[in-house]
Amino acid sequence: MTLPEYLAHQQKRVDKALDRWVPAESQDPSIIHRAMRYSLFAGGKRIRPLLAMAAAEAVSGEADGIEDAACPLELIHTYSLIHDDLPALDNDDLRRGRPTCHKVFGDAMAILAGDALLTLAFEVLSKLPEVDAGRRIHLVAELATASGTVGGMIGGQVNDLEGESKEPTAALLESIHRAKTGALLRASVRMGAIYAGADDTQLAALTCFGEHIGLAFQIVDDVLDVEQPSEALGKTAGKDAQQKKITFPAVYGLERSRAMAEQERLAAHVALRPFGNRAERLLQLADLVVQRTA
Ligand code: IPE
Ligand code: IPE
Ligand code: MG
Ligand code: MG
Ligand code: MG
Repeated sequence: MTLPEYLAHQQKRVDKALDRWVPAESQDPSIIHRAMRYSLFAGGKRIRPLLAMAAAEAVSGEADGIEDAACPLELIHTYSLIHDDLPALDNDDLRRGRPTCHKVFGDAMAILAGDALLTLAFEVLSKLPEVDAGRRIHLVAELATASGTVGGMIGGQVNDLEGESKEPTAALLESIHRAKTGALLRASVRMGAIYAGADDTQLAALTCFGEHIGLAFQIVDDVLDVEQPSEALGKTAGKDAQQKKITFPAVYGLERSRAMAEQERLAAHVALRPFGNRAERLLQLADLVVQRTA
């Protein structure tokens, strides 16, 4: 399978699984299910579930049911985007090429759609058919910590918002990025590995990989916010400078930021050496994270 074929195949697996887990639009109360599905099926890249699936593959080859275990990552991610776009946070009108959830459904319903996706993520984990109780708890803890306030997504979002009125320093920058985006990417790789029954050495190597691509991912997100037009991104370009966000280009400039992302990509590759050929897809995803244009 070529890489584009592989990506399309894996995205389809994830989308089918998501479609199974999320209540139908016709399910009462219909408005909330329409709002959840509106944002979820707007065409995201599905990077986090894809990483989980490729990490599982690196550990044990094909893992049955891994697409179900990968869904909670996309549910949490989409909730974080809906809330990130709210007027009280980044106040964005465009997401995944569409008007943002609150523009279509109103602030109250967008807040609730985010809450509902968050809650559903843990419901899915609790109901995974193929996993024993020990691994299930491990997966729950992993996702909860990565989404939480201490070094996790919410903590990072808090620092990102408070950073708007602060002097951009390298230390603050890295701590924001590792938390707001890096933690969930790291968890994506770890959850795939845990699902596939990784031993401690494998988990440590994949954690190291996840940390490098996690940081690379947000460096590139910041760079693209400067370099690409809104039409290419599917979200409003140039927002970070407008809102005085603490970003890699703001602290280091574009050229150095690109070089730093490349360094992270190479370090991510090194972390995967013990896996040999089995990590091929994971390596390709690391390249994609850094070389993407949207
Ligand atoms: C964008 O994430 C928001 C960040 C965490 C930086 P993605 O670039 O993965 O967005 P989608 O899921 O493809 O829309
Ligand atoms: C958001 O970071 C990270 C989240 C936790 C959602 P950004 O604010 O940079 O994401 P975009 O650029 O709006 O997608
Ligand atoms: Mg933000
Ligand atoms: Mg934003
Ligand atoms: Mg951004």
